[in-house]
Amino acid sequence: MNEKSDILTQIQSIASVLIRTRRFNELEALIREGQALTIVGAEPHCIALEGQTGVGKTTLLKSYANKFPAEQSQLGLIWPVFYVLTPSPVTVKAMVSSMLEQLGDPAPYRGTLPHLTSRLINFLIRCEVKLVILDDIQHIIDVDRDRIVYSVSDWLKYIIKESGVAFVIVGITGKVSRILDANSQLSRLFAFREELRAFHWRPEIQDDSETLDYVSFVLSVEKELNRPFSDQITRTELLKRLHYATGGVIANLMNLLRYAVYIAIKDNSDQITLAMLEYAFNRRLSAHMKGRSNPFAASVGTTFVAEGYNYTNSPESTGRRVKGRQERPASLSKTLTS
Ligand SMILES: Nc1ncnc2c1ncn2[C@@H]1O[C@H](COP(=O)(O)OP(=O)(O)O)[C@@H](O)[C@H]1O
Ligand SMILES: [Mg+2]
Repeated sequence: MNEKSDILTQIQSIASVLIRTRRFNELEALIREGQALTIVGAEPHCIALEGQTGVGKTTLLKSYANKFPAEQSQLGLIWPVFYVLTPSPVTVKAMVSSMLEQLGDPAPYRGTLPHLTSRLINFLIRCEVKLVILDDIQHIIDVDRDRIVYSVSDWLKYIIKESGVAFVIVGITGKVSRILDANSQLSRLFAFREELRAFHWRPEIQDDSETLDYVSFVLSVEKELNRPFSDQITRTELLKRLHYATGGVIANLMNLLRYAVYIAIKDNSDQITLAMLEYAFNRRLSAHMKGRSNPFAASVGTTFVAEGYNYTNSPESTGRRVKGRQERPASLSKTLTS
């Protein structure tokens, strides 16, 4: 392979890297359970997942759905897990037609609403769909009027009950619960309420699982992208600065680190240096992070202090944790020194 195509391959591999945190695995196991418990005729096991933008909800759910692709069998199309985006602006008709279209219905816009709905239910049953993932459910809230489009949430309740298929509904923190709170019959179907949060950084708390998730996420990025961070500053100092730079949000972390690795590849450096992070922050994050100062500009040997910054800025989880499924976190001090 020549040098140029080697660089291209490396850059492409940065774009596609997927990192599985403890929380990622935990949510995946919960969704798998919902899917497994879908039994014809029984009330399905539905899950509501909330999280702020960029914490990795869509990535998690798409990667899950990709494990169960549609297959043509002798009996027709079998489609165990079906991922769909909530259309915007949403109406019942837009919703049902968009689902039918994605399931390959030849005439998804033709027919009356009851007719389209019963076609969708038949499709779900015939294709043996066990789980529907409905992303960006906050579109059910009409932003102009700040009102829930109740007809859609009611239709959703009807589809779940009639088809017996488990649904995972996904959306922005606060909005999913608002939709459920406004419709008690729909709410009753969603026994599992989960939240995917930005990483926390609180090294003073021993074995804090969310801090450990963060620490191991950064380690995995280094490993997957094949570029370690230079040891110009301690690991603790690095993690603190990275958190300030990104708010602990995966999308920001990946945005910053992918760019830093891209610079490292171009510079033919086998490490990510502070200067690369400083440059990457300026190029990729500073506008988005609302003029936040560049934490990587603080010189080597100094301790970066972020006045008033909260390293656990996301609200406390209201989601129920499933006991017995959590992996035991490794000791934080061990992870930091390894
Ligand atoms: N587990 C992950 N591993 C690597 N990158 C991720 C992961 N989750 C999210 N990302 C990155 O963050 C970006 C935003 O994630 P996304 O799933 O769209 O967030 P959300 O749906 O919560 O807004 C993705 O495009 C991807 O680059
Ligand atoms: Mg998303």
